[in-house]
Amino acid sequence: MSQVDFWSSNPCGADGEFSQIIEQRYRLEPWLPRDLRTIPSNRGKYLEIGCGQGADAFLICSTLNKDDEYHAVDYSKESIRRAVTFVDDAKQHLNLRVTPRFAWGDALNLQYSDCEFDFIYSMGVIHHTPAPQKAIDEVFRVLKSGGHARIFLYRRGSPKVGAAKVLRLTQGLADKILRQERCIYKLLSRKKSKFFGSMVLECFGVPWMEWYSEKDLRTMFRNYSSVDIQPFGYNFPRFSKMEIDGYNNFGVFYKIEARK
Ligand SMILES: C[S@@+](CC[C@H](N)C(=O)[O-])C[C@H]1O[C@@H](n2cnc3c(N)ncnc32)[C@H](O)[C@@H]1O
Repeated sequence: MSQVDFWSSNPCGADGEFSQIIEQRYRLEPWLPRDLRTIPSNRGKYLEIGCGQGADAFLICSTLNKDDEYHAVDYSKESIRRAVTFVDDAKQHLNLRVTPRFAWGDALNLQYSDCEFDFIYSMGVIHHTPAPQKAIDEVFRVLKSGGHARIFLYRRGSPKVGAAKVLRLTQGLADKILRQERCIYKLLSRKKSKFFGSMVLECFGVPWMEWYSEKDLRTMFRNYSSVDIQPFGYNFPRFSKMEIDGYNNFGVFYKIEARK
């Protein structure tokens, strides 16, 4: 199965209506809304890479200036189809100031010209691509000089990603013995539940998954004029709706703020 087919038949996030997508996203990651609201408005042209079904795009577009432009791409045709159908609901419920422009796109070969964007956001995507350096170079290419990128990538040493790596190795062995593809994923995804579904997808299902040390990231972002790297997020879902701060020394992600 090609990667596009995989992501198209396994969209990230809940299956359901707009309200369910939003509710699940920020119940499981209650540190995210506060961080998204720190994305500066009035910057001009924004790009999100790997927007999934669009939850973060909608939240960000409710904080931008009405003259800003927000483009969002994803490799999953089904995620983009759903995101487009959610636009009217988002306008009604989130008081959007800007309408996001969703399109299919590949992080490794973006369809945009050099130096087109002022701000680029990408959450949990580039570590799922087979050529992360190419994706980071693509971000650099389409950013304007002085433009800003906020990118979240899995942190080496994070318990969640470590556990997922061990489970993926186990699955690889089981696949060899049983001559199957992603046997544990197939078994567990039959019992896909509200939050378990996306955990299972990320642990077993995804074709690629990598994690990085701060040193790796400094090398990968060496072309940028400044880079700030902080551990961020939580390894396991939280079940309270209370918003929390995402800075956490044991975080599942590194939050990378890079300027071209
Ligand atoms: C773990 S999900 C994260 C989605 C969203 N950013 C979020 O945080 O919910 C990874 C997303 O990356 C997308 N993706 C994977 N490879 C990609 C690529 N080469 N270009 C663009 N998007 C890609 C998948 O389709 C999927 O929607």
